[in-house]
This record gives sequence, C-alpha cells and structure tokens, in this order.
Amino acid sequence: MNETTATRERLLFHLRENKGDWVSGEGLSDRLSVTRSAVWKHIRKLREEGYLIESSPKRGYRLQKASQMLLPQEIREGLETEVFGRGEIFHFTEIDSTNRKAGELAARGAPEGTLVISEAQSRGRGRMGREWFSPPGKGIYASLILRPPIAPSEAPGITLLTAVAVTDSLAALTRLKPAIKWPNDILIGGKKVAGILTEIRMEMDAVDYMVVGLGLNVNVKSFPDPIRETATSISRETGGVFSRVALLREYLRHFEDHYNAFRRGGLHGILKRWRKLSDTIGRRIRVVTLGGEYVGKAEDIDREGFLILKDGSGPPRRIFSGDVMYL
Ligand code: BTN
Repeated sequence: MNETTATRERLLFHLRENKGDWVSGEGLSDRLSVTRSAVWKHIRKLREEGYLIESSPKRGYRLQKASQMLLPQEIREGLETEVFGRGEIFHFTEIDSTNRKAGELAARGAPEGTLVISEAQSRGRGRMGREWFSPPGKGIYASLILRPPIAPSEAPGITLLTAVAVTDSLAALTRLKPAIKWPNDILIGGKKVAGILTEIRMEMDAVDYMVVGLGLNVNVKSFPDPIRETATSISRETGGVFSRVALLREYLRHFEDHYNAFRRGGLHGILKRWRKLSDTIGRRIRVVTLGGEYVGKAEDIDREGFLILKDGSGPPRRIFSGDVMYL
C-alpha cells in the first residue's frame, strides 16, 4: 500500500470511528499530519469511491454511509484472516476477467493471498469456455492467487475446498441451504448461484501457481438467456439485499481455514465435508468431459477429488473434470 492510500485509510478510520458525528478538518489534518487541502483531496477521492460524506465549513466532515463497492479498505475492515485479503487487493470498476488479471499478476510473481476483484466483468470466464454473467455491483467476481506446494494431481482438491468454503459462507450468512454439484457448482433449489474456475500453471512436476476464481450471484435480479431458467442469486432466493463485502469476508475466512487444513493434513476432512454438502453422489448422471460423454451412477469422489462413475458393465471410471447433468 502506498503512503497516499494508507493516509486515506486512516482518514476513513477516523470518520468511521465517529460515524454520525462531525470531525473537524483541522483535527484530521493534525492526526494525519497532512495539510487541510490534502484532507479535502482525500475526501473527494472517497466520495468518488462511493462514500457519502457530508462537509460543513464550520463543523468539518461527517460520514453518512460507507461505499457499497468491494473496496480493499472495506474488505479489510473486520477481516478475520491472516493471509487471504491481507496482502495486495486489486480492485477494478470493470475488467475483462479477474482470473485473467490474477494469472498475469501471478506470472509476474505476485504472492499467495493476492486478491483481484471487479465490480463488473466484460468477459468473465466460466468453465468449458462459457462466459460468466457479471453485471456491475450485483455479484462477487473475485480471484485469489495460490502457490500451494503440491503435485498437479492434487490440484482438484483446491476446487473442492473452495466449493466447501463458498457453501459454508452462504450457510453462515443467509438462511439458505446450498448444495454442491460436482465438481464446483453451488446450487440453491437446483439453480446455480455460484461457480468456481480454477486455473493452474505447472512447472515440471509441481504447481507453480493457481488462480481460484469465484463468481457469486448476490443481488442479481434477472438473468439473460440462456441461463434465465438455470441461474439464481441470493437475493432472488431470499427476497433481501445482501452485503457483498460481508459475504466476501466470510468466504475469505472459510477459504483460509479449509486451505490451511488442506496444507496441514491433506484432503481427508474436506472430502468428508464435501460429501455431506454435495447432492451429486448416488445420483444417475450424464457427464460431459473433453474426452467424451458418459452416463452412469455417481458412486463417490476419490481421495484426489476425481468423480467415480459406475456405468454398469466395466470397471468404475475416474473423471477429472466435466459438466454434470442429473438424470
Ligand atoms: C463456472 O463456469 O461455473 C465458473 C465461473 C467462474 C466465474 C468467476 S467470476 C471471477 C473469476 N473471473 C473469471 O473470469 N471467472 C471467475
């Protein structure tokens, strides 16, 4: 964080501390050791970022309403993690894809825990080459950079633990009971509320970095064709409007807990939790993979997170990745 940004965060802290009360411009300039005109410039910038700040020549400044954007300082406020969301947070009003941007940053050496967020995406990437509907200010479009010391074969585990983290955070902050469809769709009442796109760069036999992208439909009111009937949002399911910042913080907390558990003891605990939350196991499904299409019963997921499909005759098939349809 550069000095200007740090000063602005401190200014915001003082305004927040006195929320609803006036704070004099002189007091702020003393406490922040900057000129009064610098205070004014910071206030102007905060307003541009969506903060509602009243000003009066005699009384100073008063914070009326925090910004509704997923700004780094809003995310960090009350965040209960140690790594994720603690380092650099890149926030955009609009970008093509947060996963693309995070990949670019990771390739240039950005450390684990780096977070890329955007209010909107013009070319949000979904799985299997699809696009992720990303209207401004209505969803969470967030990508995390990871550098796990694991073999590429362990990578699907990261997607499973992310799905568990998303499901846990929705269950914690809403009255909804989401289910996971293998490998990483989060469903409510059979409709998709969130998706995860994990992208990976390998070097020799190890993972160099991974980018875990989450798309969560929070306050989206309606969806375009062809996802009109198959997608949903938290607000559609509850009738309420939800704080994206609170949801993102909760997600980061659950993500970090599960990631640490995975780093310490492998996937065992996460698989147990995943099986509990998933509605895929035991069902007859059709799964479309890059290598072909299979129909059968989803028996289980194995130790590495592959789907075990039993299609009658032959030995069970291990499936790494694909699109599942319930039959
Ligand atoms: C899916 O198809 O289910 C995965 C969707 C993942 C969408 C998210 S939104 C944030 C991140 N950036 C992207 O371009 N895609 C992921």
